[in-house]
Amino acid sequence: MTLDSFSDRHHGRAVFATMTPEHRAAIGAVRDDLRAAGYDEDGVRAALGMPVLDLQPAAFHHLDRHVLGTDPLATAIRLFLLDRVVAEKDVRALLGEPALDVLFSLDVLGEADGGLRSQVHLTCAHDLLLATDTGRYSDWWTGADDLSDRVMYIGYDSAGLASVAPRDRSRRTLDLCSGSGIQSLVASRYSDEVVGVDINPRAIRFARFNAALNGIENVTFVLGDLLGPVAGRAFDRVVSNPPFVPEVPEGARLLYRDGGPDGERLLAEIVAGAGRILEPGGLMSITTDLFNLDDLPRRIGEWLGVRDGFDVLVLVERRFPVWAYADTHASHAPTARERAAYAARMVDALEDVGIRTVHTGYIVVRRRPGGTGRGAAGPVTVETVSAAGPVRRPAGTHVTDHFRFLDREREGGPDDDGVLLPNPAVRLVTSAPPGGAETHRLVAPEDDYVADMDISDLTRKLWQATAVSDVRWSVIRGSALEPVARELVRQGALTLRDLPAAGGSDG
Ligand SMILES: C[S@@+](CC[C@H](N)C(=O)[O-])C[C@H]1O[C@@H](n2cnc3c(N)ncnc32)[C@H](O)[C@@H]1O
Repeated sequence: MTLDSFSDRHHGRAVFATMTPEHRAAIGAVRDDLRAAGYDEDGVRAALGMPVLDLQPAAFHHLDRHVLGTDPLATAIRLFLLDRVVAEKDVRALLGEPALDVLFSLDVLGEADGGLRSQVHLTCAHDLLLATDTGRYSDWWTGADDLSDRVMYIGYDSAGLASVAPRDRSRRTLDLCSGSGIQSLVASRYSDEVVGVDINPRAIRFARFNAALNGIENVTFVLGDLLGPVAGRAFDRVVSNPPFVPEVPEGARLLYRDGGPDGERLLAEIVAGAGRILEPGGLMSITTDLFNLDDLPRRIGEWLGVRDGFDVLVLVERRFPVWAYADTHASHAPTARERAAYAARMVDALEDVGIRTVHTGYIVVRRRPGGTGRGAAGPVTVETVSAAGPVRRPAGTHVTDHFRFLDREREGGPDDDGVLLPNPAVRLVTSAPPGGAETHRLVAPEDDYVADMDISDLTRKLWQATAVSDVRWSVIRGSALEPVARELVRQGALTLRDLPAAGGSDG
């Protein structure tokens, strides 16, 4: 049974099923009322004392009883994040009549136990309000009631991809596996036109509601299987958060999670489509769990199925011990015994398909501006960079810089020059233990892309030189400093920029 058929049976219709152009026009009242109550990422973080993405069901009761007050913001959090039944008078203090009308008629709000309850969560991320299904782990546990069409919560992978995907101007952007629509809606800010594709009709309805809720009009959501609905079209940018969790045999199925036995069923198909779907110079940014990282470059090359024309950046966030990965995916189990049993089955399932290591991260595939084949000199490159940890803040300019550097190297020729600029978020920390030698470290606590680096004295000298004067690439190239500079560029601590235009003006 799916959630849609469940709510059909219980309410006679499913959430958002009745949405009309009139609803779309009226949904802005919901956004305005929530914003007026301070319901945004910062407001919710301040009220809960934690980032909204860190919320766990185990915390709901405590937050409700001992942390939240009685103001409209607290009402919104109880209703739309903590699954509480809220007194109607409190909801009326939060939402005006027009907003209430829309939410009732779309079956978002309903009466329950002497108050009102929301059928959806509304999460604040990337300056958007996003409706998703409630609960991450709860009632889809049993095989019989798998509720497999649940629309995915906003996870670290969702928010992370929206941070990693570059935001420079795009004419056409495609969001594969759009779910709640978060990637499409963020992309709508830097794209003329966005198409989101999802195979789950419930997700398409949620995404359309979310576009209206955020007043966004240049996005279309289409029902279909991966590239099927956009066959024959090409895009400047593709973003995708596909289902990537390896399936446990006989486990309950979940559309947003299940990536086939090895977790890579959809990933492989999406990467394989890069040649057809990306314009020359186009970028495909994907978030996924990265299995057997040491062998991943080979698999990516195999999926691409070409020998040239592409550069790939694998951005690694953090390593997950296999047992901890299995345990995370078992955390919906109703008892500790069942949790341990499910985790053990997952460990065995991972072993059966040869998964030895798990990292979280991103794969960015760039079709070279020259395209594929003749003129697209050099084999496919796959480079791996370790980020500082989970990417929570926008980091797309690093990705753009990464590919720009590769292009320069490939096409620039011996006369190409530039200036090495230090990343202003990076600081040099020098420590000198009593009687010991000085050690140097580059740190960037405000930049999630740049991992802390212990550096040599030579690297320190180069770094300090870039901070006080223009260091030309032509001076570094071919010298002992070149590998050092390359490493700093690769890690995002330095950027190679064009030389400033010659000064002076002819008036
Ligand atoms: C991990 S969720 C991502 C949701 C959202 N894009 C985000 O970043 O939070 C994966 C989504 O892929 C959809 N999906 C699964 N198989 C698909 C397929 N073959 N074609 C298109 N979408 C698919 C699921 O319905 C689900 O909404």
